[in-house]
Amino acid sequence: MDYKEILALKNKRKITMLTAYDYPLAALVDRAGIDMILVGDSLANVVLGLDSTTKVGMSEMIHHAKAVTRAVKEALVVGDMPYESYQVNPEESVKNARRFIDEAKCGAVKLEWFERCLEVTGQIIKAGIPVMGHIGLTPQTADKLGGFKVQGKDAEAAKRLIEQALALENLGCFSIVLECVPDKIAGMITQKLKIPTIGIGAGINCDGQVLVIHDLLGLFERFTPKFVKKYINLSPMILQALEEYRKEVTEMKFPGKEHSFTIKEEELKKLD
Ligand code: KIV
Repeated sequence: MDYKEILALKNKRKITMLTAYDYPLAALVDRAGIDMILVGDSLANVVLGLDSTTKVGMSEMIHHAKAVTRAVKEALVVGDMPYESYQVNPEESVKNARRFIDEAKCGAVKLEWFERCLEVTGQIIKAGIPVMGHIGLTPQTADKLGGFKVQGKDAEAAKRLIEQALALENLGCFSIVLECVPDKIAGMITQKLKIPTIGIGAGINCDGQVLVIHDLLGLFERFTPKFVKKYINLSPMILQALEEYRKEVTEMKFPGKEHSFTIKEEELKKLD
């Protein structure tokens, strides 16, 4: 799928998006028919055990994006630009965005809103790279937003979000993530835009939805935001399997004959 096909889905059907960071999960997400796969900088939290998405850099993002695109046959893979790649170094942003496309074979990049967002996004789009915007709660700059809180809760803040969304659309973004925004405001933004909105904690009125895959699968136990639905709780199931393995090894129940290889008796005798 390319970004134009995502654009064309607006007002036709809901769009699905999930994160993935490695080959096996990306292959499953793709086989499930999910439209877009985000190699999110949430990699920092759910895979690398870091306490902030700002701590992940280009080398880690490209490394994981490559693993994802190796697995994906259908979905549009979106590379999430890490904090250092465009907020700390705005002058490097086009070069870094291009690395997601040329080296990691992604089909688009995503950038979070920040003071110089329009300038940087404009440059990347001018360079021919499809961009997904991201407004509302932007984790890379959450400290400037008063922490990890719902955004756009009063009329003035909601107006700012609407203006940001329209400005990103005017620049040529092909879609926008709305994170932690009241459902009615997300609905208003969705109505005003010609490009699809993808919600996370933004209610049912968006054009599509995205979740962090480790949250959906119950693989991330440190915290669970209100907007997450765990479709399965894998952590206790995995733990049970690992404890069983430990028990069977220590009790010499594994490996069994069916997991072992044999040698003919006559060959063995030659070793006597
Ligand atoms: O990094 C990420 O996983 C994201 C999603 C929450 C949209 O940006």
